[in-house]
Amino acid sequence: MTAKCKGSPLDRLIRPLVRNLRGYVPGEQPDVPGLIKLNTNENPAPPSPKVIRAIRAATDDRLRLYPDPVAQPLREALAKFHDCRPENIIVGNGSDELLALATRAFVEPRQTGTPTRRQAAKQTIQYFTPSYSLYPILADIHGARRNEIRLPADFGLPDNDSLRKSNWDFNAALNYITTPNAPSGRGYTTRELAKLCTAQNGVTILDEAYVDFADEHALRLAKRFPHVIVSRTFSKAYSLCFQRIGYFIGHPVLIGALDRIRDSYNVNGLGQAAALATLVDTRYYQKQFRHILHLRRETAAALEALGFDVLPSQANFIFAQPTSLTAEEWFHQLRQRNIVTRWFDAPNVRNRLRITIGTETEMGKFLDATRSILER
Ligand SMILES: Cc1ncc(COP(=O)(O)O)c(C=O)c1O
Repeated sequence: MTAKCKGSPLDRLIRPLVRNLRGYVPGEQPDVPGLIKLNTNENPAPPSPKVIRAIRAATDDRLRLYPDPVAQPLREALAKFHDCRPENIIVGNGSDELLALATRAFVEPRQTGTPTRRQAAKQTIQYFTPSYSLYPILADIHGARRNEIRLPADFGLPDNDSLRKSNWDFNAALNYITTPNAPSGRGYTTRELAKLCTAQNGVTILDEAYVDFADEHALRLAKRFPHVIVSRTFSKAYSLCFQRIGYFIGHPVLIGALDRIRDSYNVNGLGQAAALATLVDTRYYQKQFRHILHLRRETAAALEALGFDVLPSQANFIFAQPTSLTAEEWFHQLRQRNIVTRWFDAPNVRNRLRITIGTETEMGKFLDATRSILER
């Protein structure tokens, strides 16, 4: 995102909250020929040929018209896919848009003065660290309080008893739970998520961006608990990052609140066409998922054989810790060899790299590069 303009006379025209904001830093998108891009968890395979055809077919005179403002056919198809009603679904310009809308719909911005406990909870967005690095930015943009609770060393989900002993607030207005977790890749069972959801009083969003690569999904919790929303995206598993389509599944009252505050035409028409075509070709994607899981296993085993500590992953990436060099050095050395991964300079994760599972050839080159780095 854009940098803040320090010391400009125009600063006085900008709200203090915005003037002092630190924007989200997305993974690099370098345009370098031959670069192996394993940094933003994109699917290495293209969308299904049927999806490409559907996008081409929609690239006609319709481009001058506004798209369907409520993405009705897509919401109907998603409702059928997930065995719920279109009223349970809102589609967004990527799930990022919906995560941001949730802050505006469910959280009070903080006020001046000392709040009561109840008021503070109403102003609180809560999440674990590490998890999706966008959450703190969304809280800051909204002027909300952030409550960050550190995950244990194995990145497992703390149970309610340990949360009670921590600063976790079961009354926080909005909770983001990344499941499977990113960047650790750690999966959480529906059983343990259910226990957490039962204890929460505020809106709880289960961010399932990577769930297609996991053993379980927790959709039934969004059907069972009115305050629970499941967030999904076509970006990762369905190779549609470029089209920006994500969606929430939840109770019609919460979905309706989000619907009232979204932009009128928030979902682009080609994206709607692409997502619709994706849903009728899910077999193509199932095959992709199996291949990615196979490469995930092989890459993890190869790294382990080289002495790396690799966390078990339920996502389309692995989180690996080198022993004979730092993760930062490994990152830079790979970068010099035209391989880009993701290194987070944060307390409990800076000793690991997050590596997206790419194609078989890319993973071979990544492993060769890692071996040559270790030999030097
Ligand atoms: C955990 C998590 N949630 C949501 C998103 C956003 O996905 P989308 O492309 O649908 O905005 C990402 C993207 O990196 C993610 O890692």
